[in-house]
Amino acid sequence: MSEAPPVSVFPSDLPHAEPHGNPAGVRRVAVLTSGGDAPGMNAAIRAVVRTATHHGIEVVGVRRGFSGLHRGDLRLIGPRDVANTIQRGGTVLLTARSKTWRTPEGRALGAEHLREWGVDGLIVIGGDGSFRGGHLLQEEHGIPVVGVPGTIDNDLYGTDHTIGYFTAVETALDAVDKLRDTGASHERIFVIEVMGRHAGHIALEVAVAGGAEEVFIPEDPKPASGVVQTVKESVAKGKASSIIIVAEGYPGGAQGVADAIEAGTGLETRVSILGHIQRGGSPVSSDRVLASRLGEAAVYALMDGASGVMVGRMNGEIAHTPLRETWERRKDVSRDLYRCAKTLSV
Ligand code: F6P
Repeated sequence: MSEAPPVSVFPSDLPHAEPHGNPAGVRRVAVLTSGGDAPGMNAAIRAVVRTATHHGIEVVGVRRGFSGLHRGDLRLIGPRDVANTIQRGGTVLLTARSKTWRTPEGRALGAEHLREWGVDGLIVIGGDGSFRGGHLLQEEHGIPVVGVPGTIDNDLYGTDHTIGYFTAVETALDAVDKLRDTGASHERIFVIEVMGRHAGHIALEVAVAGGAEEVFIPEDPKPASGVVQTVKESVAKGKASSIIIVAEGYPGGAQGVADAIEAGTGLETRVSILGHIQRGGSPVSSDRVLASRLGEAAVYALMDGASGVMVGRMNGEIAHTPLRETWERRKDVSRDLYRCAKTLSV
């Protein structure tokens, strides 16, 4: 009897560090982080450096975002410089929100530094403001720019998730769970504000995962007074305490919602604004993996001659989206999740 051929755990067609062509002839790329930091930015920097090194390309690290670029704060970095960083929050390249970059003179200086360093393309890890800065650099000075979505707000079109979002949700959820303990013990209403300047992604996710009674997001600026009815109904149903989640960008914020509750019900209400704590901490695995994939994809994009695009992941696949579209087109919050939050609050 002939034996069946052994089944390989690693089929030969499974790609493993397969070489990527470099039709654009890229020899040196620069990388910077800009705007609000997000957990996983270090994993993205690491992926850029190591993908480039793997393909014989040098990397110039720019410190303090566009602010450092116009000042000429550049240095060569290699794979050992990014060792032991994948698990660290923040950004080892530092970040800033640069006013000078908003001026044509500031951008011209930055372009000059990139030329001096012989850089063939710039990778910008950040949010919409950072991409606007990168877009202008490319438009005005012809330097290829590729964006990597790094912001906890998850508010960029062209990627299902942004780097840092998953970690921020976990951090906020941990706080909500703790506030629920004290809220339940004191039979109080807790109104908790999470980050999201223009978007309710974090708020919605946290509301569903944290079992909130109500959620307020900028995408649906319903009047805060409606919460009075929700709280009264909750009390009538026998709920002694309630959790209300409010996105930072909702008009009036958490305080406005809390004022409405106290005025309409007389119930003891506390406000907790989670703030910048949501931006810190060790990135969760989903952020590390997303950052690793997108950092790799950004280098490949430049090697393929792509520019003026953001690399994102949509339905599991790497996608390129023109930088301008990432902020001009709106990524809607999940309507299903919004409905689910309401349904489950009975
Ligand atoms: O990173 C995005 C974000 O977290 C927003 O949700 C928030 O409004 C903003 O950053 C605050 O940023 P900063 O205080 O650093 O200017």
